[in-house]
Amino acid sequence: MSSAVRIGIVGVGDFGRRHAAVAAALPEVQLVAVADRDRGRALTVAQELGCAAVGGIEELLAERAVDAVVIATPQHRHLADVRAAVEAGVPALVEKPVVSAGEEAQRLRELVAGSGVLVVPAHVSRFLPGVAQLRERLAIEPAVAVRAVRVVPVERLDMHGGEHPALVAMVHDLDLVRAVLPPDAELVDVSSVQSWTEPRRPHPQVVMAQLTFSDGSLASVENRWTLPHARQYIDARMEVTTRRWTAHLQTPSGGLRIATGAGDLLPDTDLEATVAGLPVGALATQLRHFAACVSAGRRSEVVDLEDGLWSVEVAARIAAQQPQR
Ligand SMILES: NC(=O)c1ccc[n+]([C@@H]2O[C@H](COP(=O)([O-])OP(=O)(O)OC[C@H]3O[C@@H](n4cnc5c(N)ncnc54)[C@H](O)[C@@H]3O)[C@@H](O)[C@H]2O)c1
Repeated sequence: MSSAVRIGIVGVGDFGRRHAAVAAALPEVQLVAVADRDRGRALTVAQELGCAAVGGIEELLAERAVDAVVIATPQHRHLADVRAAVEAGVPALVEKPVVSAGEEAQRLRELVAGSGVLVVPAHVSRFLPGVAQLRERLAIEPAVAVRAVRVVPVERLDMHGGEHPALVAMVHDLDLVRAVLPPDAELVDVSSVQSWTEPRRPHPQVVMAQLTFSDGSLASVENRWTLPHARQYIDARMEVTTRRWTAHLQTPSGGLRIATGAGDLLPDTDLEATVAGLPVGALATQLRHFAACVSAGRRSEVVDLEDGLWSVEVAARIAAQQPQR
């Protein structure tokens, strides 16, 4: 395969649309079609981006010649959508969490094992330049402790409040913990405290988890769905301690801060940034990397299915610790 990798995006809601826009703009990728069970939505996105619209993954795989798919449907659909892709022999980049609950993890493992089909979890944070550079340094000087804090706009609860926050947003931080700790550090224990700032919601808005690893390293992961405004999509910070240095990472990076009379603006320079119309943020780097793996028929050295399943399984344990009210 030498020309552009032909991609179909499955699910073009809030996040799939962003994948589609990146796919339409990258020269090494050809956006063939978008699939959504809401055909009107698929048609709108297809018209905007100049590709075909279909109703679902089966139609996409049957009617369009695609080299790979990006699955951005709601998490309860992921297993069925990955199954359709694997059975068609088509590589898939699957949004997080790769499956919706711990018991589905084994089914996904079995489905993919031995199929020879590339299935990559979309852990986009690993493609942030700061994270990639930090991992290179940690390969020389291992981490001994990690602290990750993520604050999400409270208004996003209307979209995601039906799921436990460990499975929605904390999976990013759990995956980052796995990405920065030594590869042989095995999880020994997970504990958490959780509380509600919005008592009518089914799941807590404040979750603080502690992870203990076999090599003695520790991680503290805190998620709060309490950001009182949506001027920022996310506010994520991470502190990584080694025996020689401590690294601080922030998303958005704060590299660009625009002060206005109404408060500071922090434009996204990390996730969806573009330069001269070309996407250069982590979402683009992730898709470029996936397309390169598909073209070369090789595995991803950045993230693999076990990484995606690890964070889901830890998140499911934290979700199961939700206190009684
Ligand atoms: N990586 C990130 O930072 C990030 C951020 C947001 C969401 N996500 C993930 O992206 C995925 C989608 O989330 P979202 O917020 O875009 O949800 P959403 O509800 O906005 O969009 C989902 C879309 O999938 C469509 N859909 C549902 N069932 C379908 C089916 N069977 N076939 C085809 N289309 C179907 C819906 O009509 C909808 O348009 C989730 O896994 C979520 O966790 C990741």
